[in-house]
Formats: sequence, structure tokens, C-alpha cells
Amino acid sequence: MIASGDPGADRLHPSTSMSKKTPDIRLRNNPTLRRLWEVLRPYSTQLTIAMVGMVVVGGFNALQAYMVQPLLDEIFYKKDARLLNLLPLALLLVFFVKGIFYFVYSYLLERVGQSIIRDLRNRIYAHIHELSLTYFHKTPTGELISRIMNDVNLLQGAVSHALIRLLRDLFSVLGLLGVIFYMDWRLAFISLIFLPMAAIPIVLFGKKFRRLSTNYQTRMGDATSQLHETIAGIRIVKAFCTEDYEKRRFAGKLQTIMDILMSDAKYRCLGHPMVELMGGVGMALIIWFGGMQVLQGNSTPGTFMAFLTALIMLYEPVKGVTRINATIQQGMAAATRIFELLDVQPDICEQENAAALPAFHKAIVFDDVSFHYEGNPPVLHNLHLELRWGEVLALVGPSGSGKTTLSNLVPRFYDVSSGAIRIDGLDIRTVQLHSLRQQLAMVTQQTILFNDSVRNNIAYGRSSANEEDIRQAARAAYALEFIEALPQGFDTIIGESGVRLSGGQQQRISIARALLKNAPILILDEATSSLDTESEREVQKALDNLMHNRTTLVIAHRLSTIKHAHRIAVLKNGYLVEEGSHEELLALGGEYSSLYHLQFAE
Ligand SMILES: Nc1ncnc2c1ncn2[C@@H]1O[C@H](COP(=O)(O)OP(=O)(O)OP(=O)(O)O)[C@@H](O)[C@H]1O
Ligand SMILES: [Mg+2]
Repeated sequence: MIASGDPGADRLHPSTSMSKKTPDIRLRNNPTLRRLWEVLRPYSTQLTIAMVGMVVVGGFNALQAYMVQPLLDEIFYKKDARLLNLLPLALLLVFFVKGIFYFVYSYLLERVGQSIIRDLRNRIYAHIHELSLTYFHKTPTGELISRIMNDVNLLQGAVSHALIRLLRDLFSVLGLLGVIFYMDWRLAFISLIFLPMAAIPIVLFGKKFRRLSTNYQTRMGDATSQLHETIAGIRIVKAFCTEDYEKRRFAGKLQTIMDILMSDAKYRCLGHPMVELMGGVGMALIIWFGGMQVLQGNSTPGTFMAFLTALIMLYEPVKGVTRINATIQQGMAAATRIFELLDVQPDICEQENAAALPAFHKAIVFDDVSFHYEGNPPVLHNLHLELRWGEVLALVGPSGSGKTTLSNLVPRFYDVSSGAIRIDGLDIRTVQLHSLRQQLAMVTQQTILFNDSVRNNIAYGRSSANEEDIRQAARAAYALEFIEALPQGFDTIIGESGVRLSGGQQQRISIARALLKNAPILILDEATSSLDTESEREVQKALDNLMHNRTTLVIAHRLSTIKHAHRIAVLKNGYLVEEGSHEELLALGGEYSSLYHLQFAE
């Protein structure tokens, strides 16, 4: 809890320091607003039409207030019966036209709001896929989900409700101001003295709203992370009987969230009566002063009533501003976080005008490669290694020696810290990422499958594959038999991460997927480590098919896989300690031979 509170505290600073100078929404010099405008720009035509609609509605609001004057003065005092027939008709017309314009602008604005939400979600999702693995090591999944779902929602609230209301109200306020000044400018001045006071709670609470919102989002991300983790890891929660612990942890987070929301509600609820009270004082003064003028014969009751009506209508939007302000502040805080995420630059990027990697035909060379994870000590030290075309190179070594790390450098999941990896003489950092990754097929240490049909999992990334290709890949992966025994065969949905399949079945599906990709270079990470001897033999046969006619880097603990290797490289603590054939290394009597004897004894 404490640790997760820290980033929240950190993130408070930029927004609070920003709001020091800009307690309220201020268009100039606000990068968030400027960028929001960039997002809105494609919809400027719709926005302009909506704006015209709002101007019309604002004008008609003023007209409604204005019509009170002839009602009282002409009809009631001068007994004008003809006007009595006309006025209700005119009123109906006003409402009707106002209704049409209201529909047009509110529908358009809703549309713009939903469109930018869709655009932003698409942009964030696309951007997330651009980011490097390092970013995902640092950022919990729940936080990203929360960003794309909650933050974008908050922003939409701010754009399609608050900002819009603010604009609409602005036009109404302008129209109504026109009416009160037209009716009685002295009274208008008196009432205006109180209008700025309505800004007090806005200034007072604006900063708080923004800070609370930031805090709220951090906590929401935290709670979403827990949800995501514990639901995905439900087996472990059950097995370790930590339900109560998790419940308490979640309840604690929910309570924190509620406390934040209640703080927010407090200021929201306080703002309203504060503004109303000030409006009330103003209103009382106006009634007293204006009433006096009517009694003295300086004004007509109609003028006074029209004035009062306009004033009451005027205070309504002003009162609403405090509430809107909260939503806008929340939205701005959300927007800041969204843009922050969109600003994250991937560590791994393509050079400008990078060329495509030609079809692999010679060798992959690790040239003096060292590597450390961001902010950690080195894991790989000055490695020299060569993987020639058509060769099977086995990588062995104790757990944590850096085997997976080494294999992750080839597809550029991470970039080397020093040295270079060259494919056919080309530094992989100088070629197009796609052209590099297209020539690689991977079977990862943890099998990764998606909640989709068996067919789509095998054909993942190869939508062009036909039925026969898929069956062939499944057959070669020794998966056809069990797939056909599944209730819906290739159409069976395998559950999240493939939970409805056994471990060995999952692995064979992932092997089939790699087979179908038919890439010249193959990276296998301990594909058989979690299997019993029988299924291992099956998977091994599948792997043999997979390695056929390919260049393979295989990481394995089991010697059955290694036996097929042309060469073996032994890694220890990130150093390449031995290299050679099985027989050579055994004869050497070093690291490999002791590993081998250990397994043999098993
Ligand atoms: N994302 C990461 N950030 C920081 N350190 C990491 C990260 N991933 C791995 N490491 C560290 O790098 C070292 C090498 O890890 P690696 O996964 O390459 O080992 P391995 O040889 O594949 O082990 P195993 O046989 O258990 O799979 C380990 O000490 C590990 O703690
Ligand atoms: Mg590993």
C-alpha cells in the first residue's frame, strides 16, 4: 500500500503546480488543453454546427425571459387581448425551435464526445503495442487497463458534458445578461457584483478536485491491478487459502477509493450552497431595490419581473459551474495522464529509413554482447557466439544464468547494452523490426495462448493460412490427435491462456503455431521442461519436425533435446564458459559434464 501510494504522491506535483497559476480552465499556455484541441480538431465542423445551435438556444433562453415583460405590462395592465392570443403561440414557437436546436447540438456533441473517446482508446491501444517490454515490466497491467477504460471515460465526461455545458451556458449567460441590461442597467450592475463571488468556490476547490482525481485514478489503477492479478491467478489464491487476505486487501483499496470520492463529494456538495447563498444575497438586494423602483413608478412590474426571471435563469448556470468545474478538473487530470502515456517513447525503435532484412542465409553472430536490464547489474558479459545457417545450437546452464535473456535479444525485445548482434553481417538494430521478427519463430518458456479457437491460436498472425496448412502444422506438432478429440475440434475455444488444455497440449499448440509461421530461424525456450517422459517424447518429436531445415537456438534442461544439437554453449552467471559438441564437452569434464552427470543420475 505504502509503495503504491508513492507514485500517486509523485504525480500530484505536476498537476498541482500547474493549477497554482491556473486554478480554473485557461486556454492559453495549457499544453493539455492544446493537445485536447488537437484531438478535437477533426470534428471542428460538427463542433461549429453545434456551437451555432448553442448560440441559438442561448438566444431563445433570453427571449423566454424577455417575454415576461409584455405579458405583464401589455396584457395585464393594458388589457391587450390580441396579444394574449399571440404570446402563448409565440412561446410555443420559441420552445419548438429551441427544442430542435437543442436536439441538434446535444446529439452532435455527444457524437463528437464518443468519437474522440474511440479515437483516444484506439490511439492508446496502438501506442501500447509500440512500447517496449521494459515499459511493461515497470507498469502493472491493471494500471494500463485503468488508463484506457477509466481515464478515457473521465475525459469523455469532461468533454461531452462539462465543457459543452460550460459553452452552452456561456451563450445563455450572454443572452440573459443582454436582457437584464436592456431592462434595467442599474439593477444589472448591482446583480453583477455578486456574480464574481460565484467564482470563489471554483478557485478554492479547483485545485482540490484535480488532486483528488489524480489520487483516485492511481488507486483505481491499483485496484484494477489486484483484480486482474488475483482473477488470473485464482488457482494460487485458492491453493494457498489467501482469499481472506485478498478480500481484506481489496476492501482496503475500495475504502481508500471511497474516502477519496467522499472528499470529492464534500467539496462538490459544499460548492453548490455556497454559490446559492451568494446568489440569494444578491437576489434579496435586487428584490428590495427593484421593488422600490416599481413602487416609486420608475419602472414597470413587467420590466422588473422580466429582469428577475432573467436573473434567476442566469444564476442557474452560474451555480452549475462549481459542479462542472469538478468534472472538468477530473477530466483534465485524466487527460494529463493519457497524454503522459502517449508520450512514452519506446526504447526499441526502428532507425529512419531502415532496410528490410534479406532472407537469412548465413549466420547469426553475437559479437561481444553484454546486457543488463534497466537499472540492474549486467546479466550477460561479453558474449561471442555464432549460429550458422541450418545449425542447431543448444544453450544450457543453471537457472538464472541468462539463457532466456540471451534469446530475447535476437527478436530485439531488448537491445544489447554493448556489442552487437548481426544477422548475415547486418546489425539487427539497423533493419526493419518487422522484417527481423518475420524471420523468427518462437516457442517461449511460458506458453502464451489466447482465449480463442484452437484454429485461430495456431494460425495466429497468419490469417492467410488455409485449413490444410493448419492441420499439417497440428499434425507435425503431434497435436492433431488430441485436437480432433476435443468437443468442437479446431473450433474449440481454449479459455484464457489456454486453461482448458493440459500443459503439454498447450505447448504443442504453441509449437504448431511456430511451425505454421514457417520462419527460417527458430528460438525454443525449454519447451519440454514441464512435461512427463511420455508427452516429452511427443513434444520432442514435434520439435524435431520443427527444427528440420531450420536454424535453431534451443534452450533446454533436458538432454534429450540437446542430443540433436550440432553444438552446445554453456552459460554460467552470464558468461559463456564452454562451447563444443556433446562429446567434446563431456571429455572436457567441466560445467557441462557435471550438469550432464547430475541429470544422468536422475
Ligand atoms: N525483466 C527483468 N528485469 C530485471 N532482471 C531480470 C529480468 N528478467 C530476468 N532478470 C534477471 O536476469 C537474470 C537471467 O534471467 P533469465 O531469465 O535469462 O535466466 P534463465 O537462464 O533463462 O533461467 P531459467 O533457466 O530459470 O529460465 C536473472 O538473474 C534474473 O533475475
Ligand atoms: Mg529461462
